[in-house]
Amino acid sequence: MLNKQQVMALLKSITDRTLNKTLAETNGVRAIQAEKGTDHVGLTIAIGKINTPEQTEIEAEIVNKFNRVGVESIAIQFEAFTEAELARLNQAKSEPPSLLTDNGKTKFIAIASGKGGVGKSTVTVNVAVALARLGKKVGIVDADIYGFSVPDMMGITDRPTLKGNRIIPVTAKGVQVMSMGFFVEDNEPVIWRGPRLGKMLRSFFVEVEWDELDYLLLDLPPGTGDMALSVHQMIPSSKELIVTTPHSTAAFVASRAGKMAINTNHEIIGVIENMSYFQSQLTGEKEYVFGQGGGEKLADELQAPLIAQIPLGQPSKQGSSIYEEIDPIGQIYLQVAQFILDRD
Ligand SMILES: Nc1ncnc2c1ncn2[C@@H]1O[C@H](COP(=O)(O)OP(=O)(O)OP(=O)(O)O)[C@@H](O)[C@H]1O
Ligand SMILES: [Mg+2]
Repeated sequence: MLNKQQVMALLKSITDRTLNKTLAETNGVRAIQAEKGTDHVGLTIAIGKINTPEQTEIEAEIVNKFNRVGVESIAIQFEAFTEAELARLNQAKSEPPSLLTDNGKTKFIAIASGKGGVGKSTVTVNVAVALARLGKKVGIVDADIYGFSVPDMMGITDRPTLKGNRIIPVTAKGVQVMSMGFFVEDNEPVIWRGPRLGKMLRSFFVEVEWDELDYLLLDLPPGTGDMALSVHQMIPSSKELIVTTPHSTAAFVASRAGKMAINTNHEIIGVIENMSYFQSQLTGEKEYVFGQGGGEKLADELQAPLIAQIPLGQPSKQGSSIYEEIDPIGQIYLQVAQFILDRD
């Protein structure tokens, strides 16, 4: 004698041959009668198409399964999904569950700036690695389709692999990475425009098999152009880190990127001032090579915290822009990561 949960457990992995999905996926089990004290199970099951050889196969599989657990008396009534239900099921098929539609477990953080060259990509890869060092599952989408630099900065030479028709991202330093750079031969410039670029970016979310990410960081192209805007629109729940240098012009331009975030309802986590100063290893003295105050001014203007001021400094390893954990700059990135964790 089975209860309804046990009956469901037996049914859920059965494939509806006409739709090529399991009954769990189609929600095809309409009714279960499993009366107490009897050994009879009655089922109403919806499938893609009724009165077909496929239906007979499904029926035989179900009867077999129940016979094996000692249920001898089974009555199955099949009915067809309505047109509307079929349309919904087919739609779900063309758009597999993805980062953009999942249950919201993954938090998106876009790294933006007004100007190029202020260190967005450097900040992206280092914050990602720092979050991973703190035990989080992290991914990076290099959304700078023309100016991709993340693979290079992380010293990645591998390429993504395919699992069925899903793309498996490359993992480096504990971070899953997807970049246009993986699909371009020999550093050729990308000559696509508009819609095709948008499609490419979208496929980074829906066709890539990300592994249960806590955080997905997006390295945005500089400025407030089309690509930056389409990222904003594609990921409405994204939060933002705004990167600037201490120079007042950089901060002024960065405030445009910040305002774009605000206009598209993206919450600003805070401002990161990069290349804030150079500290002499001999005397410990700080020199403010690019001026002072830009980060603070920008943070004020955007009413967001100034999370960190990162000095000039070369990462210790050749061929990578990742600072070691013990490096003073690596420590600052850990603090940034901790700041992000604390506010979530
Ligand atoms: N704190 C730092 N100290 C020393 N060099 C840095 C620092 N931050 C970034 N750089 C260097 O500055 C250059 C620009 O940085 P990065 O590529 O990260 O900027 P970006 O804002 O992503 O640029 P783009 O707008 O071209 O995408 C790189 O060569 C990087 O290694
Ligand atoms: Mg960059």
